[in-house]
Amino acid sequence: MVLEVAPPSVIVIEDDAAIRRLLERLLVPAGYAVIPFGTAAPALERIREDPPDLVLLDLQLPDMSGHEVLEALRADPATRLLPVVMLTGMANTAEKMRAQSAGVTDFMPKPFSPEELLPRVRALVMLKQFADEHEHAERVILTLAKTIDARDPYTAGHSGRVADYADQVAERLGLEGQIRMDLRRGALFHDLGKIVIPDSILRKPGKLTEEERSVIEEHPVVGHDLLSPMKTMRQTLPIVYHHHERLDGSGYPDGIYGPAIPMAVRIVTVADIFDALTSDRSYREALSVETAFEILRDGVGKGWWDKDAVDALRGVVEDRQRAAS
Ligand SMILES: [Fe+2]
Ligand SMILES: [Fe+2]
Repeated sequence: MVLEVAPPSVIVIEDDAAIRRLLERLLVPAGYAVIPFGTAAPALERIREDPPDLVLLDLQLPDMSGHEVLEALRADPATRLLPVVMLTGMANTAEKMRAQSAGVTDFMPKPFSPEELLPRVRALVMLKQFADEHEHAERVILTLAKTIDARDPYTAGHSGRVADYADQVAERLGLEGQIRMDLRRGALFHDLGKIVIPDSILRKPGKLTEEERSVIEEHPVVGHDLLSPMKTMRQTLPIVYHHHERLDGSGYPDGIYGPAIPMAVRIVTVADIFDALTSDRSYREALSVETAFEILRDGVGKGWWDKDAVDALRGVVEDRQRAAS
């Protein structure tokens, strides 16, 4: 079977019929499917139903302004990142600034030449496809991470809960922006490497043998190796790789200690342990929150875990308990 690949699609919203025709004449032979609209409302409806790869948008339309169309697209999470090029005739600086602050991708002054239009369209469509692929790849990994949790009924939902705890601890400790986003993703994928651990070990009710333990202890390295080819995962790698280290160097896989362990890693470690302690496991029932914090504080005393992270987690859990009561 030969899979037909649909050509990249470009929606043109332009009330001037001559310009619509010109764009079609330029883009269709170059391999694009062009869907022309003379007014904004039906175009917006079509974009919502089936987002194209690119929108070429006129500034003045009979039913709405190009700005309003752009703002509507940016307000919708499904089209927030869709490339939108504004076709500008006489646009003044104020109008350009308004479009820029609304998140326009690019401007194309009218009249335009094929030499100018085609390379830009090509670049923007390619960018959009990369973004789609990247988003797709992330969704695949996320599904995979959830599948690993779900393999063992005792760990179902574990990664998601660890990510939520870690994110709230990070917020309390004042971590912001990209660092916090990376931390959240790292937490979601921290146990990805468990994918290679056989069920017989992962779900074993009793005590593990030395050999079984060493198989389990490979999971941070395996997870790191699986994610490392992905550029966008680079910042999450230390979390995945080091989430079983201890501040005194007695953890694994590398036995790094103290300042070598970043705060984001310390937070995920503590969130991970807390969730493991407070959930049922194949080898024991869930412990109470009190007991879990006794164990965590005990570990802080032994020099294993970060005190600030444990204290912040305590605050997070108390807030939740208050909210639930
Ligand atoms: Fe782990
Ligand atoms: Fe874990």
